[in-house]
Amino acid sequence: MIKIRDLRSADIDAVLAVADSQLGEKYITEADLSEGKVFVAEEDGLGKIVGFCIALVATKDGKPYVRTVAVAQEFSGQGIGTALVAKAVDYMEGLGAKSIFSPLWKHDGIVNSDVVFRRNGFVPVREIPDYWLKDSIEKGYLCPVCGKECHCTCVMYELYLAD
Ligand SMILES: CC(C)(COP(=O)(O)OP(=O)(O)OC[C@H]1O[C@@H](n2cnc3c(N)ncnc32)[C@H](O)[C@@H]1OP(=O)(O)O)[C@@H](O)C(=O)NCCC(=O)NCCS
Repeated sequence: MIKIRDLRSADIDAVLAVADSQLGEKYITEADLSEGKVFVAEEDGLGKIVGFCIALVATKDGKPYVRTVAVAQEFSGQGIGTALVAKAVDYMEGLGAKSIFSPLWKHDGIVNSDVVFRRNGFVPVREIPDYWLKDSIEKGYLCPVCGKECHCTCVMYELYLAD
C-alpha cells in the first residue's frame, strides 16, 4: 500500500536518489527540497520512498507551481504520480491559490507526465524552448537527454481553480 505524506529529514537521501534516476543527476538538490513543500510516496510495508512531488508557493513571479513530480521506475503505472500531484494541488488550493502552473518536460515530442497532470485538471498553455538551459549551466546538473547543457523544451501546464 502506498501512503502520501509530508517529507521528513530522514527521507532526503531516498528522495534525491529517485530524483537523480528519474530527472537527471543533481537536477534536484537538498536546497531545492527546503525551498518548497515536498510530499513523498512511501511504500507502507517496506517503508521505502518511491516518489515525490515539490509544490512551490512563494515563487519569484508570485505564481504557485508544481515544480516537479517523479516516481521510481519499478513503481510506475500505479497511480502514484497522479496521487502526488493531487496532494500538492490540495495543499496549494488550501493556501488560496487561484491557478497553479507546472513546467513539464517534453522529450521526443512527448510529455511523460501529461496524463498525470491532465487527470488533475491541468491543460497545456504554451511551450518554452531551452527552459532549463540557464539552470543546467549554472547548477551543473545533467539532463538525461542532453547532458551538461539542457536544450529541452518545457510545456507549461496550468490548472484553473474555481473562486
Ligand atoms: C511521469 C511520472 C511521474 C508518472 O508517475 P506514475 O506514478 O507512473 O504515474 P501514474 O501511475 O499516476 O500515471 C501513469 C500514466 O502516466 C502515463 N505515463 C507514465 N509514464 C509515461 C511515459 N514515460 N511516457 C508516456 N506516458 C507515461 C501513462 O499514460 C500512465 O497511464 P496508464 O497507467 O493509465 O497507462 C513517472 O513516470 C516519472 O517519474 N517519470 C520520469 C520523470 C518525469 O518525467 N517527471 C515529470 C517531470 S515534469
